Amino acid sequence: MVTYASEIAHWPALALETLQTLPNFAIATLAALPDESAIILRQVIADERLSNLEFEHLLTSLRRSIREQVAMGISAAPVRPLLCGLAIQGYRHGYPFQHAPGEDESSDPLMRACYAPLEEELPEDGDPWIEALNRVHIREPLRQDDLVLTPKSLGPVMDAVSRRVRAQYEEHPYPHWWRQGITNVAPERTGTMLVAGCGTGQQPIGLAQHFPNMQITAVDLSRASLGYAMMRAEDFGITNIDWVHGDLLDIGRLGKTFDTITCVGVLHHMRDPAAGLKALAAVLKPGGDIKFAVYPKSSRGSVVAGIALRGQLRVAPTPDGIRAFRQVVASLPPQHAARKLAKSGEFYSLQSCRDMVFDEQEHRFDMPMLKALIAGSDLEFVLIQSAPKMQEMFRNMFPGRAVETDLDAWQEFEAKYPGCFRNFYRVIMRKPA
Ligand SMILES: C[S@@+](CC[C@H](N)C(=O)[O-])C[C@H]1O[C@@H](n2cnc3c(N)ncnc32)[C@H](O)[C@@H]1O
Repeated sequence: MVTYASEIAHWPALALETLQTLPNFAIATLAALPDESAIILRQVIADERLSNLEFEHLLTSLRRSIREQVAMGISAAPVRPLLCGLAIQGYRHGYPFQHAPGEDESSDPLMRACYAPLEEELPEDGDPWIEALNRVHIREPLRQDDLVLTPKSLGPVMDAVSRRVRAQYEEHPYPHWWRQGITNVAPERTGTMLVAGCGTGQQPIGLAQHFPNMQITAVDLSRASLGYAMMRAEDFGITNIDWVHGDLLDIGRLGKTFDTITCVGVLHHMRDPAAGLKALAAVLKPGGDIKFAVYPKSSRGSVVAGIALRGQLRVAPTPDGIRAFRQVVASLPPQHAARKLAKSGEFYSLQSCRDMVFDEQEHRFDMPMLKALIAGSDLEFVLIQSAPKMQEMFRNMFPGRAVETDLDAWQEFEAKYPGCFRNFYRVIMRKPA
């Protein structure tokens, strides 16, 4: 029987509780789920990012037992929407879950779509779930393919590390996203903004929605990521972004300067992050701000353990390799440092797993390295961001010291509370006017 961890207590309870009471996942029993419960379940499966192994186990058991019944000649028609939910979930997350050899074979194309992308559209017959499946598996990828060659280009990528990083994100654009919630809009803000290393567009599209009267330029090494980003921009009706393909080291070739620049999760993927920051500083207008975010070493213990494990096992960064690696991590004892990877939402998507543990290039910063990056940049240091709770603790620990700028004090603070900056050191710098 599947057990459910407390972390998923916030999930729509009705569907999960109903499933918990089932003796098995027989098609007839699933088809008899109360309507409301079944609808919630499909939506949960198709829309949400999973974040625990119990739910993964639930989905893989569900998939396997329906597949077994279909192989016995039982029609899957009564659970068609549920299978569509599983197939959409699988596609969106890059099919991260392992399965037994041959389990992915079936004469039913919808069943196969729970294991790999559809080969061709299925007849819709007015069914909104099949429509959603065709859209996610076939129509959206075709739209992306049509868009990948359309952005402006900064010219050939010459840096050897940038080329390797580009190959990584061409294979696995990151992040895979499809929903965006903006809470407020600031139409009074005008001017130009550069989003350097925009990935699949979540950040520039959010900014374009928030600042509808700013002109945003978004650059990335990966055409596949840009294709995805441009498709989502179309979906959200965004028209104030210029998409550019190339290495941010060559951003000067655009012949433009910017009032503000943001560069999140990118500099640490470069051969020389200081050179990347300098290239960005060169296109910042005097008086303009740049915000950058880089990995803090102290937050990445489980990732480092995962990278070491991957090296020991010689796992290739292929879909099969990543799936096999996930299985190994899931079976590690709880005290193993790499086992903590399974607590991160990133672990439940193939693209994110690649980004997390299979990076071509990753610098991890400690406070002295961050100080050196800041000092070598010819920019004024404005502040390091921290959560309100951390600021309160900082003030108690260092009365009278500057919470926004005292990196020596933050170094002591971080030594006492490793991982306190969580995913990123987030820094704001300014170009002297
Ligand atoms: C981890 S993703 C982050 C994407 C985005 N900033 C976000 O936070 O969602 C890193 C992105 O930076 C891009 N990138 C890495 N090095 C780059 C470079 N030298 N020039 C332009 N883009 C780069 C990669 O192609 C990838 O899309």
